[in-house]
Amino acid sequence: MTRLGRREFLGAAATLAAAGILYRLRPWDAPPARGELPRILDGKTCVVTGATSGIGAVTALELARRGATVVVAGRSAARCEARVEAIRRETGTRPVAVVADLASQQQVRRMAAEISSLCPRIDVLVNNAGTYLFDRALTPERLEKTFAVNYLSHFLLTNLLLDRLAASPSARVVSLSSEAHREGRIDFDNLQGERRYDRLEAYSRSKLAILLFTYELSRRLAGTGVTANAVHPGVVATNLGSENGPLRGWLRVRVRNLVDRSMVSPEEGARTSILLASASGLEGVTGRYFDRGQETRSSATSYDQALARRLWQMSEALAGIGASG
Ligand SMILES: NC(=O)c1ccc[n+]([C@@H]2O[C@H](COP(=O)([O-])OP(=O)(O)OC[C@H]3O[C@@H](n4cnc5c(N)ncnc54)[C@H](OP(=O)(O)O)[C@@H]3O)[C@@H](O)[C@H]2O)c1
Repeated sequence: MTRLGRREFLGAAATLAAAGILYRLRPWDAPPARGELPRILDGKTCVVTGATSGIGAVTALELARRGATVVVAGRSAARCEARVEAIRRETGTRPVAVVADLASQQQVRRMAAEISSLCPRIDVLVNNAGTYLFDRALTPERLEKTFAVNYLSHFLLTNLLLDRLAASPSARVVSLSSEAHREGRIDFDNLQGERRYDRLEAYSRSKLAILLFTYELSRRLAGTGVTANAVHPGVVATNLGSENGPLRGWLRVRVRNLVDRSMVSPEEGARTSILLASASGLEGVTGRYFDRGQETRSSATSYDQALARRLWQMSEALAGIGASG
């Protein structure tokens, strides 16, 4: 090894060691308290999409710890089975796995049918799965993938499960938006990023669409006992963004999670979803937005009812489901 090579090697080793120490010192390293929780969800069925990682994995576990039978929805059979096994071990409940790549409408439909056959009634649907893509990618239906996975798949899944939700005396639909929605624009000429693709624009658009959908759904379901609310979980150290290749994705996300001390743990990030899914004080509360546990106003655009109706109609056409008024 040359003198320069040795110096570079020692520098890299020191950086890695310092990062390791920082990592160990992170406040979210401490395991969450594991006391007995009141089993307020005993007898309830909760479906969580994207339950194989980050916020969704914690949400699924915590709902099961409160007594729920959890449907672990993910795109990898192996990761779903691993989560099911971990939840079963930790809670003694009987979670089940359902597998679908939400980028494919055909798979969303198959998953909805499987969930419907497994669950005569759904009490909570957490539309949690999400992705953040640097480059424009298309789904089998030739839709932009961020829009399709983060928003349209959940629009379709929720609509396909409505009868199961209506079978519960008080079902809750909880959807993961983001504060990024405030930068979002619904431009019907560029809904699929066909004219211009910008990763943040695409992500923000999908999260604004989730809010418009949530509010429109709450209006359409008024009086049925099914509520719909949306969540910003905080800025959370998860795998979000990993899907952009080994260097731009996996490695970048790991370094970001290590050095950005403003990020909170997945346990902290899941709190708002768990609150919305389970708090008895939120019974009947619908059409609201919660940022890290607190109800708050979302962007002015998100309350535009004409825009929400137009997006709903466009989404029905894109997802190939029944026309609405
Ligand atoms: N992290 C944040 O700071 C933050 C902030 C605001 C909002 N959110 C939202 O929170 C939600 C959860 O994200 P996270 O931060 O926990 O990220 P994460 O750790 O990457 O988890 C995302 C989950 O979605 C699943 N998923 C991604 N693409 C999918 C596809 N095509 N089909 C099926 N499942 C798919 C992933 O499955 P795999 O395990 O197979 O990858 C994973 O289970 C997302 O909607 C995200 O937009 C996150």
